[in-house]
Amino acid sequence: MIPFVDLEYIHTPLQADFRKVQETCINTSDFVTTGQMVKNFENAFAQYCEVKYCVGVSSGTAALFLTLKAMGIQEGDEVIVPSHTFIATAMAVSHCGAKPVFVDVDSETWNIRWSDIQPKVNEKTKAIIAVHIYGNPVDLEEIVTNAHALSIPVIEDACQAHGAIYQGKKVGSLADAACFSFYPSKNLGALGEGGAITTNNEELTQKILKLRNYGRSDKYKHDFVGYNLRLQAIQAGFLSVKLPFLDGWNQERRRLVSVYRHFLKDTDYQLQKVVTNAQSVYHLCVIKCKNRENVIQHFTKNEIGFGVHYPLTCHQQPAYPDDFNLSLQISEHLTQSVISLPLYVGLKDEQVERVCRILQKV
Ligand SMILES: Cc1ncc(COP(=O)(O)O)c(C=O)c1O
Repeated sequence: MIPFVDLEYIHTPLQADFRKVQETCINTSDFVTTGQMVKNFENAFAQYCEVKYCVGVSSGTAALFLTLKAMGIQEGDEVIVPSHTFIATAMAVSHCGAKPVFVDVDSETWNIRWSDIQPKVNEKTKAIIAVHIYGNPVDLEEIVTNAHALSIPVIEDACQAHGAIYQGKKVGSLADAACFSFYPSKNLGALGEGGAITTNNEELTQKILKLRNYGRSDKYKHDFVGYNLRLQAIQAGFLSVKLPFLDGWNQERRRLVSVYRHFLKDTDYQLQKVVTNAQSVYHLCVIKCKNRENVIQHFTKNEIGFGVHYPLTCHQQPAYPDDFNLSLQISEHLTQSVISLPLYVGLKDEQVERVCRILQKV
């Protein structure tokens, strides 16, 4: 049996350090965001992403929501998002009372492009969210240049792309703000829920710091209606233990994907294109196939774990009935044809080869 994801290999050697984090939290009563544990992680992650500021929050969804809120997104506004993403990207917009405007993606990178965004821009457009899907950096230069010319901020949804690089710069530093998820299976995952915002914008940072903590400017002074969407100290501690290993883990994911590419090169399976000047961190190794049902049957029979990211586009979800009749052909086609292969640090080359032999047979 080959599982789809396995975190044991990376977590087992870190257990003593995780226990130390637990002990420190208990011994110092540092449990919530106000303590040193969160600040230490925020500083380390800001440095890692090559930005001035990082704010730790309770999840990737919270990071997106708080960033949009801090940018003043509200009812009546529109925010452009790719339809080919995890639903949280769109839901964060909806939580602000604004409308997510779904656009299609490129047929090779499976990422959002300016040519798809431009026709949807109007006076209600108040932000664009570029999702680095599966860890593959969006070709952002054209999007940021054009959006900024229209005074529209661009937010990176980097929830799947910790450590990815575009034009020599880290994902998280490429636009007005970036949002990360530390869901356990992410390239940098907490041992529970977590998220963060990275940015070089001080004003935005100050707003988000207050928004995540009841609009608080002093212990019992609340400047506006805020939320409790804070990162837990213990999760920040666990993340600080894991962060120094992230680049090495990403490197191993890239190597494993190159093994997949090698064995699948003479087949009909299509892997995600990475634009020149970018390095994906392969949160997922996704292939497009002609007969997914057949692949699923073979994987199931041979006990190969897999995922489907995602079986429905956002605009086809029951949560967005008004958008059901949109026609976004590439996104729709991807939902029918993609399958995610086993990929994690600790996966062996022989196992990758075995998965590929099965794919070749199909
Ligand atoms: C692209 C994308 N955006 C947003 C999120 C939301 O993150 P979280 O689950 O931490 O709320 C995820 C998480 O799966 C994601 O993959």
